[in-house]
Amino acid sequence: MAVRAPRQPRPDPGDYPGGQAFLPEKHTLPTLRQAVTACKGCPLYRNATHAVFGEGLASARVMLIGEQPGDSEDLAGKPFVGPSGRLLDAALQAAGIPRSDAYVTNVVKHFKYTQRGKRRIHDKPNRYEITACKPWLAEELEVVEPDIVVLLGATAAQALLGGTFRVTKQRGQALETELARWTFATVHPSSVLRAPDEDTRRVAKDDFFHDLGVVGQYFRKL
Ligand code: URA
Ligand code: SF4
Repeated sequence: MAVRAPRQPRPDPGDYPGGQAFLPEKHTLPTLRQAVTACKGCPLYRNATHAVFGEGLASARVMLIGEQPGDSEDLAGKPFVGPSGRLLDAALQAAGIPRSDAYVTNVVKHFKYTQRGKRRIHDKPNRYEITACKPWLAEELEVVEPDIVVLLGATAAQALLGGTFRVTKQRGQALETELARWTFATVHPSSVLRAPDEDTRRVAKDDFFHDLGVVGQYFRKL
């Protein structure tokens, strides 16, 4: 008789209560940044080096939201410092959005990966982890109160706008949402870097820069 493989045990909500349980009393960027280092809201803290909180000024008018820290970000403890971050910086510069007006963060604060030899391969966070981590992002949105939110990639877009949202259909448009005065979605910069060949990469990069260029136009209307 065939023996069924045991199902993956679901995390016990008692073991992992979600980020909410670790929020500090006072909600400021410094207190939140400090508190997230102790978050055990979901299993992802166990294999990561650092919790990576957002970076930027509370007065920033544009908040850019990615998926989760990558390998470089996990080691540095800062968001968007690796290859994706360099591409994002270049696109922001081309769009005329100064660093002082850009707050960059992620939906999930700990790096999720699979170890393959010496390499750590990025894994997508699941719905449970995204939900567990959302209170941190909600606090960032509340403290910064950005005029413009830019969702980078499908994970961020769907986490905030719902599972039926399609980046390919609605990228680069000013959307009306509860997040900010104007919300935009575009691809994740890592998808540009992963393009299979030079030509595809050039087109993907142009499209990404175009989308951020539209964000820049709205930024100048503020
Ligand atoms: N990718 C992300 O989504 N966020 C980072 O901080 C880095 C890479
Ligand atoms: Fe907490 Fe988010 Fe890290 Fe999970 S990923 S442990 S909820 S900070």
